[in-house]
Amino acid sequence: MNSPHWWRDAVVYQIYPRSFADGDGDGIGDLAGVRARLPHLRDLGADAVWFTPWYRSPLADGGYDVADYRAIDPAFGTLAEAEALITEARELGLRTIVDVVPNHVSDQHAWFQEALTAGPGSPERERFWFREGRGENGELPPTDWTSSFQGGTWTRVPDGQWYLHLFAPQQPDLNWNHPDVRREHEDVLRFWFDRGAAGIRVDSATMLVKDPELGEIPQREGSPGAHPFMDRDGIHEIYRGWRRVADSYDEPRALVGEVWLADPGRMARYLRPDEMHTAFNFDFMTRPWEAGALRAAIRDTLATHAPVDAPATWVLSNHDITRPATRYGREETSFDFAAKRFGVTADLGLAQRRARAAALLTAALPGSVYVYQGDELGLPEVEDLPLDALKDPMYFRSGGTDPGRDGCRVPLPWTEAGSSFGFGPDGGAAPWLPQPEGWGAYSVQAQENDPGSMLSLYRSALALRRAEPALRGSELAWFDGTDEGDALVFTRGSGAQALVCAVNLGSKPLPLPPHSRVLLSSGPLDGTDLPPDTAVWLRP
Ligand code: GLC
Repeated sequence: MNSPHWWRDAVVYQIYPRSFADGDGDGIGDLAGVRARLPHLRDLGADAVWFTPWYRSPLADGGYDVADYRAIDPAFGTLAEAEALITEARELGLRTIVDVVPNHVSDQHAWFQEALTAGPGSPERERFWFREGRGENGELPPTDWTSSFQGGTWTRVPDGQWYLHLFAPQQPDLNWNHPDVRREHEDVLRFWFDRGAAGIRVDSATMLVKDPELGEIPQREGSPGAHPFMDRDGIHEIYRGWRRVADSYDEPRALVGEVWLADPGRMARYLRPDEMHTAFNFDFMTRPWEAGALRAAIRDTLATHAPVDAPATWVLSNHDITRPATRYGREETSFDFAAKRFGVTADLGLAQRRARAAALLTAALPGSVYVYQGDELGLPEVEDLPLDALKDPMYFRSGGTDPGRDGCRVPLPWTEAGSSFGFGPDGGAAPWLPQPEGWGAYSVQAQENDPGSMLSLYRSALALRRAEPALRGSELAWFDGTDEGDALVFTRGSGAQALVCAVNLGSKPLPLPPHSRVLLSSGPLDGTDLPPDTAVWLRP
């Protein structure tokens, strides 16, 4: 992993600091907790760690409302601790990726506070999108756009003007036509790169540039560039500037985009050689557990990344998504924000088997792999959190119909027993979200010496992925006759070192492809058959 191209096939572990490990016992995860648990990531076989925002923040949106990019939130620790963490991680072979949230800041950010005080028409307001309202007395918002968190996208301030927020009202959108905004973000990048960050994850990466006309959203899809704030052509110039900053370091830094776009061709434009290095593969992540759907996602992904020579990424979940160890056991196994509801039943045993198979599938595909904290433990989504414990604005802004994203953010269990299952010191404050009873059965302690556990499977898969030359590079060959049907079967590498990955997504056992040796399987094999919802790695 000393190559400057480490990001092409890295295993990146995502830490949501608030829920990873609580070092000081206040019930909130922190950097001290992360530093104490870094060996877990080394033993897992990760190459890099991506931290969701750890900056000073009122946490109105779990830290995606940044009040100061150059300070660590006191709940998490100090800048000195972050610097020590980056260094210690690197000593264990783990690079650090920090999260940058360029679309908006917190309403507590100095710039927004200055804008509120300075009043209408002031240069301070120019850094945001302040507008007069429509209607006789300006009582209607300037547009009728819908927020990603539901509801409107404008909030009125006491002097009568409205400001734009594509997310929550506590997250005012920045005006990227303003030179201060551009300069400031390049400075923030340098601030973290100078402290050893090996890369950044770019939040909501398609939304920065707005049409100053603030027109209505086109009714018809398929007019790329015509949307008032999504994927406008002018955005690429910003990332070209960031790439120049990243490339100015001796070990060039990597840019990873959160690019949610339905059109894979438009997504690939963000990955041109002078823009970002990689982007999350949400197409694959949101597909149902069906061979045809996943095969198509894999094919399309590889086909659209090849022309821009960008590696694919494979993602099963993150801090916004229903955990695979629940989702894959539902009747509807695809993921869609708009469809999230309370009370959807899941067969957790089935979900667990499929999540195991999915782990082997993603680890065998060409490109980089993301593991969201807790997925290596097979944690299910916690779907019965007490309503008064919920924190996510998605829940509140939906009027209580969308359960929100707290269920995948429940603090991790490290030990079988203890007041917070080892999340914090025994007897410390209760975790900020309650852990379910029995959470200790999923703990690292409960799993690490059990060869049949999810944790052991992840460790074996990631160790093999690192050791097997077949799993380098970008080539993938579909096995003869498997273009359709219930199995995904493909070969990586060639000759004596080749590796075949086969996944049965159907309901009947299928014969294993010809092989000389079984390297790893996600569940027991049935003689020479591959049971349903099982994946296997074979030496041909
Ligand atoms: C991204 C983050 C999400 C956050 C949103 C607004 O989608 O992943 O957690 O709420 O951006 O910053």
